[in-house]
Amino acid sequence: MSIKISHRAKAIKPSPTLTVSSLAKKMQADGIDVINFGVGEPDFNTPDYIKKAAKKAIDDNFTKYTASAGILELREAISLKFKKDNNLNYQPEDIFVSPGAKASVINILMAVCDPRDEVLIPCPYWVSYTSQVEMVDAIPVLLPTNMSSNFKINAKQLEDAILSLSNPKALILNSPNNPTGAVYNKKDLEKIAEVCVKHNILIISDEIYEKIIYDNEQHISIASISNEVCEITVVINGVSKAYAMTGWRLGYSAGPTEIIQRASRIQSHTTSCVNSMTQKAVVTALSEDDGSIEIMRKTFEKRRNFLVKELNKINNVKCSLPKGAFYAFPNISYYLHNNKNIKNSVELCQYLLNDYQVAIVPGSAFGTDNYVRFSYANSMENIKEGVKRFADGLKNL
Ligand SMILES: Cc1ncc(COP(=O)(O)O)c(C=O)c1O
Repeated sequence: MSIKISHRAKAIKPSPTLTVSSLAKKMQADGIDVINFGVGEPDFNTPDYIKKAAKKAIDDNFTKYTASAGILELREAISLKFKKDNNLNYQPEDIFVSPGAKASVINILMAVCDPRDEVLIPCPYWVSYTSQVEMVDAIPVLLPTNMSSNFKINAKQLEDAILSLSNPKALILNSPNNPTGAVYNKKDLEKIAEVCVKHNILIISDEIYEKIIYDNEQHISIASISNEVCEITVVINGVSKAYAMTGWRLGYSAGPTEIIQRASRIQSHTTSCVNSMTQKAVVTALSEDDGSIEIMRKTFEKRRNFLVKELNKINNVKCSLPKGAFYAFPNISYYLHNNKNIKNSVELCQYLLNDYQVAIVPGSAFGTDNYVRFSYANSMENIKEGVKRFADGLKNL
């Protein structure tokens, strides 16, 4: 082919979580009994009360383009949600909805980043952050965390990094965290926020796992720390995870009016708007409650307790108890350093998939090789069998 591919496209790697998951699905389609811990989506159906609202929207012929930022009724429902859940006062004009939180993040990055701006990202990180930062020609700067720091950055680490950079622009904070399950408490957030205010760093706070949280932990939005912090924060959220709505595609952002308006204008030239039926369904999702969100949360909690207990029974595997989201992130470094055949987490996951038919995601997908990620958005039966296969695979290395 004589057409040159852009530097942007060349720099983007495929999403490793989707790659594992589609390989596992292909093996399943070929009749192989694979236990798939790769997918980051609830295994539950979207609750009926939400589906009903979408069907009604279709029957009412609510099927046309909407305002790019989203219908007013939805932005009002989101504004009420922020007040009720997070004690945040966002007006509808400070909110815009996108086709998934993934799209919300890149729209915001496009609105604020110039080429060579630096965006700080705690590591391990959700796979798309670094690629999205690169797509807007900005530079991802990783802030390492590990099990002994409870997978959280601290204020000093953040400030030292900011002081070492030429164009520090933003911090992407994700709590509850994918892949580690870390949840930042109010004290952590106050200290981080203080540094960001001092150095005028935009906080992009991805709170998509807000409602999937355990052990009576409380989700605090960093934007609620003070008005000063709110003025430098964009909150990202969405319905994919808590409401089991991954395929509907709706995420939202709230923040300083100018950033939101600019990001919304960018969206008006790309995807236009979220599909109209989903918007109506999400008005209902956020305004009503049939108890199913709590049932899903409790089910995830039981699975987490079981999976983490079983993982910690395996020789030389250490797994901390995640406080939120639906992932376990065990340390498997012993098996990388004490083995001739397996050199990194990718090779370990390939071996486990090929020889033990269990699909998990290599830690390197999240920026750290000493771990692997299990999604426990999976039946208890599968978790039991899958963790057994994982243990056998490690034992027989
Ligand atoms: C931390 C985090 N943010 C955002 C998303 C994207 O969610 P959505 O389906 O709303 O695009 C995901 C999905 O895996 C995620 O884990």
